Formats: sequence, C-alpha cells, structure tokens
Amino acid sequence: MKISIIGSGYVGLVTGACMANANQHVTCLDIDEKKIKDLKNGKIPIYEPGLEDLIKEKIKSNVLSFSSEISQTIRNTDVIFIAVGTPSNTENNEADLSQVFSCAEEIARNIKNNTVVIVKSTVPVGTCDKVEEIINLKNPSLNFDVVSNPEFLREGSAIFDFENPDRIIVGTHNKDSITTLNLIYKKQIDNEFPIIFTTRRSSELIKYASNSMLAMRIIFINEIADLCEKVGADVNDIALGIGLDKRIGPEFLNAGPGFGGSCFPKDARALVESGISYNAPQNLLKAVIDGNEKRKENLSKKIITIAKNRKNIGILGVTYKANTDDMREAPSLSIIPDLINKGFNISIFDPQANKNSIKEFKNANWENDIYSVANNSDCLVILTEWSDFKDMDLKKISDIMDKPIIIDFRNLFSLDEMKKMNIEYHSIGREAINSSKEVE
Ligand code: UGA
Repeated sequence: MKISIIGSGYVGLVTGACMANANQHVTCLDIDEKKIKDLKNGKIPIYEPGLEDLIKEKIKSNVLSFSSEISQTIRNTDVIFIAVGTPSNTENNEADLSQVFSCAEEIARNIKNNTVVIVKSTVPVGTCDKVEEIINLKNPSLNFDVVSNPEFLREGSAIFDFENPDRIIVGTHNKDSITTLNLIYKKQIDNEFPIIFTTRRSSELIKYASNSMLAMRIIFINEIADLCEKVGADVNDIALGIGLDKRIGPEFLNAGPGFGGSCFPKDARALVESGISYNAPQNLLKAVIDGNEKRKENLSKKIITIAKNRKNIGILGVTYKANTDDMREAPSLSIIPDLINKGFNISIFDPQANKNSIKEFKNANWENDIYSVANNSDCLVILTEWSDFKDMDLKKISDIMDKPIIIDFRNLFSLDEMKKMNIEYHSIGREAINSSKEVE
C-alpha cells in the first residue's frame, strides 16, 4: 500500500514517520520546497523528541520519502492523508479551511480509482462531505471514499501517542476503507488499542469535543485554584482528591497559566462558532475561552503585585508547554508584553524557543541558562514546566539573588521543600511561602 500525506507540518510528519515505522511506504508532501529539501536531508522544521532520528532512520530504510511534486505523487498512491493546517479565521473565529479545500481540488485533479482520502486535519462537522463533493464533481464515475480520522497527538509526546493511542477514531462505514484503516493501524490494533468506526460527522465532532472537554477541565481547575488561594486550600490536594474518583480521573487537572498551543484555543473557538451556526449554543465552552483570556491578565497583575517596585523580572520558559518549541497562543505572549509595557526589565531563558521568531518580546534580554537570568533578576517567574526548571539548584539561586522571589505558575516545587529555602515562593492555588507578609 502506498500512502501519501499532504502537509508536512507537525501532524503530517509524525503520522508519516510513525506509519513508515510500521513498514508502510509513505511520501510526505508539501508545497514548501525549502522545507522538503531540508527534510530530505533529515533536517526537521520543529522540535519533537525522537522525530528527527526516526525520520532519518526511515529515509535510510527507504520507507519514507519527501516531495513537493504533489500531483505526480498522489496519482500513484492508494491512500492520501490530508494533514494541512486549519488555523482560526481572524475575522470570525471559524476554522479556515482554505488549505483543506485546495488539497481537495488537487486530489480531484489527480485521483485514481479506488483511492481512500483520509482527512486528519481538525475540521468542523460537514467538511469531509464538502471534500467528497469537490472530488466527485470532477470524477463522477470514480470509486473513492473520504474518511475522517482525527489525530490525538500531544506535542512533546506525539510519537508515543501515535504508537499508544487511547483510541483511534475513524469516520466511515465503507467496507473497503475499514479494511484499509485496519491495515494502516494494524500494529496498534494488534496491541489491543481500541479503534472506533463511526460516521464521518461523529468522527469530526469527537475531535472538537475531546479538545474542548480537556480545555474545560483546565479552566475548571484554574478557577478552583483561585478559590484555594482565597480560602487557604491547596489545589494540588484538590486535584488529587477529585482525580481519584474514577468518574473524574487524574489527568488534565494541573492548575497553570491557562491553555495555549495550536489546538485548544483555536478548536474551542471553532466549536463555539459551529454551535452558533447550527443554533446549538456552546455556552460552557464560551465561558472557558473567556476564562482562559482573563487568566493571563490576572497572572500578569499577580506578578506586578508581588514584584512591587522590583523592576527586573526573569522569565523561565516561554513555550506554551514543555518539550516543544511551539509558541502559538502561549500565555507568555500576553504576559511578557504586558510586563514590558508596565516598565519591567525582562530577562528570558527557554531551552527551545527560537528568540528570533518572537517579535512580541521587544527589548527583552535572552540568556543561555537559568542562573544568568537569576543574575539579572529580582524575581523569577516560571511559565513553562521544563524539567530543567524543576531540577534547578535552588541553593545556587538563593546565593545569586539578593532577596530571591520565585513565582511558579506550574507548581513545580513542593511547599515543604520551599519552606526550607531562603526563597519567597508563590505558586498557583497554594499558600505563599516565606512571603514578606508572613515574615513580618
Ligand atoms: C492537544 C491534545 O492533548 C491532543 O490530544 C490533540 O491531538 C492536540 O491538542 C491537537 O489537537 O493537535 P497539545 O496542544 O500538544 O495537545 O498539548 P496538551 O498537552 O494537551 O496541552 C494543552 C495546553 O493545556 C497547554 O497549554 C498545557 O500547558 C495546558 N495544560 C494541560 C494545563 O494547563 N494543565 C493540564 O493539566 C494539562
């Protein structure tokens, strides 16, 4: 079976490399010729642990290739994945489907008989129907099927998630496509990971509902954290206590600076818009989106209140989460410019963020490690849960900084640990440690 994937971004590359790892013959396609040239040389455009090595290995064993000759390649494949971006349309918050539809047009011009077209991009309900219409218009007598097969890959652990999925969702009831999908995911099925076949529309909606449910949990625990701070409770204990209820479960209950990334914010917005257009309002989700925006404002206010007249702030971590270089909709993109506008001097260290691509942090001073940031700062703010930060030498920090303050928006340290240190410590949804109020 020959597989091609249109779109060599994060989803296309991970999917392509992992399917090649299962001995499928995969060609990853992209209109960006430079990107394809780099990929052919094993240079990948994103930071994803394990991906570069896997790609190099699969190129070597001739099961993975890259091309920008899209029409030529798809003419010779049995399965075509669409894995292009569906960013938020800045005018109306709906998903911008222009790339998906231009793939559909390209496929319509080149598709051969008995091809399965699989939509992996995150798309609103009814999109696969439209893709089918576009292909059908040019090929009314051709036998083909359009299938929905959303991805559930977390950045930073995408390869693990592909190999060990909680479930595989496939939207089709076409018998031949079911056979093809069973073959594509044979390794996972053999390892007894569940595969669910449903309608295309249900499959499309499962993706949005999953991301939105997870986003809701995050905002819920963040609001509980705010209450904890007011009433003297500990949000980590609350998360543990509620998470042990099997009906709730322990995942996605880490309080933090709010959700970011290329998926949750845009997918939540798109689902709210779908609700509006079908007259089925998604009120809860609307509140989640508003709550997430408000959170970033509140956290910069919190920093300002704690820092008082200390003007030098060190930021540890700017990516939206650890183990990625992705900055899309990262809380840092609102918090740092706000601090800069209020006259604070900002030093930054992040193990992976590419400082040249971030125009929002004008005049910020980038350092190469945690301790150089501490050297320039009155107050350290942890925005991303990189393990480097969890492992930092707190004794060294308290030696470097005059009256050290750490504001930890990822709750990386235990309160007992911090009580022993000569460091003022503020976290999320827990009591402040060694703060001047308590010391007085
Ligand atoms: C998310 C989903 O987890 C994937 O299943 C999905 O495939 C992907 O979106 C997508 O649609 O492509 P990802 O954006 O990589 O994956 O990141 P997550 O690990 O889910 O985290 C999302 C955001 O929630 C981050 O900002 C993270 O810091 C935050 N978060 C997560 C919390 O604040 N608390 C938590 O307990 C968990």
